[in-house]
Amino acid sequence: MRKRLKTKFLGIEVNLPLVLPAGIMDMSFSGLDISAKNGAGIVTSKSLTLEPRLGHKGPVVAEFESGLLNAVGLCNPGIVDGLTEINQFKERSDTPVIVSVFATNTDDFSKLTNHVNKSRGDFLELNLSCPNVFDEFGIPLAASKDEVFKIVKAVKEISRLPIIAKLSPNVYDIVEIALAAEKAGADALCMINTVGPGMLINTKMVKPVLFNKFGGLSGPCIKPIALKLIYQTYSALNIPIIGMGGVTIGEDAIEMIMAGATLVGVGTAVYYRGIEVFDKINREIIEFMDENNYDNLEDIPKLEKLK
Ligand SMILES: Cc1cc2nc3c(=O)[nH]c(=O)nc-3n(C[C@H](O)[C@H](O)[C@H](O)COP(=O)(O)O)c2cc1C
Repeated sequence: MRKRLKTKFLGIEVNLPLVLPAGIMDMSFSGLDISAKNGAGIVTSKSLTLEPRLGHKGPVVAEFESGLLNAVGLCNPGIVDGLTEINQFKERSDTPVIVSVFATNTDDFSKLTNHVNKSRGDFLELNLSCPNVFDEFGIPLAASKDEVFKIVKAVKEISRLPIIAKLSPNVYDIVEIALAAEKAGADALCMINTVGPGMLINTKMVKPVLFNKFGGLSGPCIKPIALKLIYQTYSALNIPIIGMGGVTIGEDAIEMIMAGATLVGVGTAVYYRGIEVFDKINREIIEFMDENNYDNLEDIPKLEKLK
């Protein structure tokens, strides 16, 4: 089975096409390890900041009919301890690791890059798009093509690793933002981050469910938005896309691939189907390939590009 799911991403052979997205498992080495052992072909760290962060007060995650609302607030151990966990993981596993980092300006992104350069990470992902720290940092950088260009360019000049820009769905024109990232030297894109922010209300308590009041949406409710943005971006750009947003079953992953994704992220579905979700979706992709006479992943057709 595994042979048929092999693919290439930025020059690396990847055994399985599913990616653990940033922030889904805890930051420890074991969170990455258990995902890789259960069928994730690439694993992503929690977004790391220069200093450790406690994140928001709880509740930070709430479930509703068609997804999750979260405002974790970038809780992470900081870049130094985070990279120690990643290095430990790489001592025992061949699975490629994407190191996700978050900052609000070029200087801090450059400092983070210098740390990551010394690590055993395989790719560097720039989280330009966290919607849950608005009170502290304002509008995400991914809302501005100029900011995206400036930061990606600065990081590209010093990064030892290929760069993935993680984009926000909460923009008017995704193509102009994606093109700015590509022009600045991004090697790939990861999209989408959570949608919104949105809000849920506890009607008995007459107050918002999340302590932070507002949070980003993920899971099945965002899949149509993700597919549309990935398709528009795939139509206009030449760099590969890690597509994510609501992928829960094999057919969702197939939709992502048809929309233009090279690899597919599975995040919120871990809460619904357990950590075995990666193996389950891998099997469901194979079933789809059997039913439709596709030998390999590359045989699955993409949609005709938008003109
Ligand atoms: C609890 C939670 C924490 C997240 N933390 C991060 C994060 O630290 N950095 C980041 O870039 N994305 C973060 N995300 C966004 C996911 O990586 C992903 O882009 C999004 O959830 C859409 O995929 P999904 O619907 O499969 O979950 C987080 C999502 C959730 C649900």
